[in-house]
Amino acid sequence: MVENSLSPAAITDNLETRFIGQRILYYPRLPSTNDIAKRQAQQGAVEGTVVIADEQSAGKGRMQRTWLSPKGSIALSIILYPSLAHLSSLIMVASLAVAHCIEQVTGLKAQIKWPNDVLVNSKKVCGILIESDVKGNSVDYAIIGVGINVNLRLSDFPEISSTATSLSHELGEEVSRLDMIRCLLVETERLYLALPAGESVYQEWRNNLATLGKKVQVKSGETTYKGIAESVASDGSLLLRQPDGSLTKIVAGDVTLRE
Ligand code: BTN
Repeated sequence: MVENSLSPAAITDNLETRFIGQRILYYPRLPSTNDIAKRQAQQGAVEGTVVIADEQSAGKGRMQRTWLSPKGSIALSIILYPSLAHLSSLIMVASLAVAHCIEQVTGLKAQIKWPNDVLVNSKKVCGILIESDVKGNSVDYAIIGVGINVNLRLSDFPEISSTATSLSHELGEEVSRLDMIRCLLVETERLYLALPAGESVYQEWRNNLATLGKKVQVKSGETTYKGIAESVASDGSLLLRQPDGSLTKIVAGDVTLRE
């Protein structure tokens, strides 16, 4: 049995961060950690405050989808106050931090599917939802919401098992959520603090993308594009080479690989 207590004291004990995770709000069950984090940010919560739940009853995904968040998974939201220049890089920070920690804690190889899904053996183990409030040229707040399928038995969730997996399923044994969370807080802070120094986070994110060079279909709003995922720009958008030779820049969307 792995240590799996998510008490704030266990998470913050000798945590090697300056601010991310130094204040933890823990809930056994709530609708969505992102919603509580948003409310906290609006009330001026200190940067790095983290909202964690053992279970969410109304977890939110990208594109107005719902996110399944039962016991055994990780659901957390980190409050940040970045500059506008760094806001678009948060998808890179968050997905790289998750990929690094999966590798560090479980030894499994993790890859990123543009823009910020994390995959193990080509199936999704983690989804990230970043929500922010921008007024004029300044960011009021940004919330990084991270959901990781850690100790889930896939047979209990047939509705997701064709496209998603869990760390315990891939590893064949339970994984410590506490180790994953502590690693995630340290890695997120390290990458976030590296943003002002230049392009290293962008380059590393680009190198970890499973999508590049592949034939893909991208759904963005009402439009579906087909082509080759050629590259990504430093603002995080995808550069898609379409069959007529044109290069289209896609800021947000959902990618499926075409065989
Ligand atoms: C996606 O892949 O569509 C993104 C899923 C993001 C889920 C996380 S779980 C913690 C946080 N709270 C939420 O309601 N959503 C995010």
